[in-house]
Amino acid sequence: MLKEQTKRLILDLQKKYPERRSALLPALHLAQAEKGYLPRETQDEVAALFEIDPNEVYSVVTFYDMFFEKPTGKHVIHICKNVSCMLRGGDELLMSLCHHLQVEPRMLTADGEFMVIPSECLGACDRAPMMLVDDKVIGPVKESDLAGILKDAQNGPGHPCPASHLEVDYA
Ligand code: FES
Repeated sequence: MLKEQTKRLILDLQKKYPERRSALLPALHLAQAEKGYLPRETQDEVAALFEIDPNEVYSVVTFYDMFFEKPTGKHVIHICKNVSCMLRGGDELLMSLCHHLQVEPRMLTADGEFMVIPSECLGACDRAPMMLVDDKVIGPVKESDLAGILKDAQNGPGHPCPASHLEVDYA
């Protein structure tokens, strides 16, 4: 069950949009910030708060790489696989990172620390090839940078980050 505070924040968010369903994405971010991921029962709760069919929420959650239906690693690394990054070695970077971590894309490392997700354009094409490590944009990345990037991530706050970027008081 979502906390009452999260539910209240979601209902408040809905009032900020002419169409309340437009608040669905930030609402899902709030729910995920509380839970760490979005299990089906949480998606159902969000659907109920919006008075929409749960299938609408499922389709949004499964479309976007930023939402997770299962627990993630402590650190989530999105690697862009779109054109600008691919042309500058993004695919090789993805393979190299997975090899380094001994993990397949979208799977958890054995220690539960990392999950690597190939993603569509992450909006930082000028930094190709780039990655999003927890909430930090990094690029251009060379294979030789990977060990340092992973170490920095382990010293950071991890994923999901607090919901402060949503400009709501989540204390
Ligand atoms: S193509 Fe990689 S960030 Fe846009």
